[in-house]
Amino acid sequence: MKKSLTFKDQYGDWALITGGSSGIGKSIAYEVARKGLNLILVARGSETLSQTADEIKKFTGVQIKTIVADLSKQEGIIGLETQTKEFEIGLLVHSAGLENNGFFPKNDLQKELNLLQLNVISTMTLSHIFSKRMIQKGRGGILLVSSVIGHMPSPYFANYAASKSYILNFGLSLHAELKSKGIDVSVLSPGVTQTPMSKKTGIDWTKSKVKIMSSDEVALEAIEKFGKQVSIVPGKENRMLAFFAKHIFTFSKSAMMNEKFIRKTISQSKL
Ligand SMILES: NC(=O)c1ccc[n+]([C@@H]2O[C@H](COP(=O)([O-])OP(=O)(O)OC[C@H]3O[C@@H](n4cnc5c(N)ncnc54)[C@H](OP(=O)(O)O)[C@@H]3O)[C@@H](O)[C@H]2O)c1
Repeated sequence: MKKSLTFKDQYGDWALITGGSSGIGKSIAYEVARKGLNLILVARGSETLSQTADEIKKFTGVQIKTIVADLSKQEGIIGLETQTKEFEIGLLVHSAGLENNGFFPKNDLQKELNLLQLNVISTMTLSHIFSKRMIQKGRGGILLVSSVIGHMPSPYFANYAASKSYILNFGLSLHAELKSKGIDVSVLSPGVTQTPMSKKTGIDWTKSKVKIMSSDEVALEAIEKFGKQVSIVPGKENRMLAFFAKHIFTFSKSAMMNEKFIRKTISQSKL
């Protein structure tokens, strides 16, 4: 009988995980290390990055390299490309992202532009760089991180949600382009997840009816389904939200309902 390939056979030896020092990226780093892959973790803050690397190394024994880079800047991306040249990267997980919310015309324009640089431009650029390398090897995987709000109109998160819709569509399209080259692409769309980012939104999610998942739950589901499902929405409630937005409501209805819902939960000073 033919032996099936392990996660490490398919996506080893090294996984490059951006945003690997915190939240969902860190939890995914743990899951991937448990599968036996060595890690390259990327973030801006060197101290947290080193602490995370030491922690994961202690628990899993894999090799870990850290790279300090600001991926919202072209220099950061070029630096990452250069510093990873000698590594055989079989898996790219791009979890670094920036969130912004509030009444759009009042939001700081520079912050919105930075958001697009990180969420959109770096997603496209890193996917380009690393898919080319993976094609040469004839195998690999790319996991992009969108959000459940990228599946629907999301007032007061307009630019953030739009950037996550970009990631969703981009990843789903790449999935079909790269499949025949031996490269798996999946898009992860978490709902509200307990991380420093969701705390910084200024929204008290516990007052809303949405189910809050832990980053470990999200990561476990993501890695279990990676390569088997193209669109991974972790958690039953989040899957229902995405289903209703796609199949039940019109865009207009969905936009108006979400406006009411978010207006109630968002800090009033942001309206
Ligand atoms: N938390 C949620 O509720 C939720 C829901 C849906 C989707 N998501 C998505 O999940 C992803 C991870 O979010 P999270 O909640 O885990 O956030 P988090 O805990 O705040 O972690 C963000 C990570 O990205 C790194 N990072 C941020 N800006 C960066 C930059 N310019 N260059 C390089 N690294 C950068 C951070 O490290 P440094 O700050 O040191 O750079 C950190 O490691 C994001 O794409 C987010 O949009 C989150």
